[in-house]
Amino acid sequence: MSANRRQTIGVIFGGRSVEHDVSVVTGHQIMNACDPARYEVVPLYIDREGRWFTGAPLRDLKSYEQDIASLTGVQSVVLSPDIRQHGLIVNPLPSGLFAKSQSLRLDVIFPTIHGSHGEDGTLQGLFELADIPYAGCGVLASAVANDKWVCKQVLQQNGIPVVDGLLIQRRDWEQDPDAIVAKILSEFAYPIFIKPATLGSSIGIGRAEDEKLLRAYIDVATQLDRRVLIEKAITNAVEINCAVLGDSRQIRASVLEQPISWDQFLTYEEKYLRGGEGMKSADRIIPAPLTSDLTERIQKIACDAFKAIDGRGTARIDFLVRPDENVVYLNEINTMPGSVALYLWRETGMSAAQVIDALLALAREAQAEKRRSTYNYKTNLIALTASRGVKGMKGAKSPRSSS
Ligand SMILES: Nc1ncnc2c1ncn2[C@@H]1O[C@H](COP(=O)(O)OP(=O)(O)O)[C@@H](O)[C@H]1O
Ligand SMILES: [Mg+2]
Repeated sequence: MSANRRQTIGVIFGGRSVEHDVSVVTGHQIMNACDPARYEVVPLYIDREGRWFTGAPLRDLKSYEQDIASLTGVQSVVLSPDIRQHGLIVNPLPSGLFAKSQSLRLDVIFPTIHGSHGEDGTLQGLFELADIPYAGCGVLASAVANDKWVCKQVLQQNGIPVVDGLLIQRRDWEQDPDAIVAKILSEFAYPIFIKPATLGSSIGIGRAEDEKLLRAYIDVATQLDRRVLIEKAITNAVEINCAVLGDSRQIRASVLEQPISWDQFLTYEEKYLRGGEGMKSADRIIPAPLTSDLTERIQKIACDAFKAIDGRGTARIDFLVRPDENVVYLNEINTMPGSVALYLWRETGMSAAQVIDALLALAREAQAEKRRSTYNYKTNLIALTASRGVKGMKGAKSPRSSS
């Protein structure tokens, strides 16, 4: 790729996720931060039903008040998993006499989807098949971090302090709720947190002070997810978030923030609907008012946790802390945080453009590292099987013998 050719970057946002709206805002923050002299931005919007679109009108947030599919200048698009395509097929199902589909090569992809079908490894899997470098965590780290229960297990295995919890299955709750309540109360006292295992943005999260609320919140959470995490509530704690950037060779931690919650816990409203610009708008204190020892300790735990999940790219790692007692719990890892935590890096001295450059450089390095492994192992197994006939096909006419 010649040095002065602009890179074609596909920015993916929206998604079949309860955090669709947050992602549309994050996607626009990234597209607007891309230097037009160096990047040709291709907006890729996935709507709530999972339909993919591209087109210039998608760069205007006002467009989302209308029916995107019928907007002039908006076309259907697919990201081809076929390695020859290295990008998009625009208008894949052309209808009409002169309509035709076109290919559009992407040099790199920047996914900004939060939660299901985008932050959970599914989309990252498609990028791996297509062999296109992409910003952010890979398949494994995305899937592990997105599952609050599995993430807790992995972190515990690596000596990272996490809150005690237990997992319940929707079908077990539906079969025998009393047994589930008894099991929970045999391990935890109120207040108790109830969380869908793989969601985010506080959607479906409940804090129960009594059995009536406990049952009600489990009912809510099991409508949103087939697995639900039950955790003891860490009372008198403050929330501290730390962003990280890097990969297994080197990880950098940002300054810490303390988001302010006026409610019993940080709700969706508090996170996004206060100032009206995504995660950037919540009330927060930066840097968090902690001692330098505690600050460094939290930054180190954040880097160790990112390494433990084989993280690369970036993440925002959230903690529950009791500063007076020096007690720290890692609450969760967001591998595609709201606003990509750009506001935290700005306070750490990195501009949005620098964060984007760093993430794209990590994406290319990850692909180069992956290409050092071989995925080709030639054998004569097929010829051998052809000569012997496929097992289990005894007596069945193999295609060749039909003649
Ligand atoms: N065990 C806990 N003790 C106290 N507060 C908690 C606990 N777990 C979650 N919270 C509160 O609930 C909010 C949402 O929970 P979190 O696990 O971060 O889910 P989400 O992925 O939806 O953000 C947190 O920001 C915090 O305010
Ligand atoms: Mg959270």
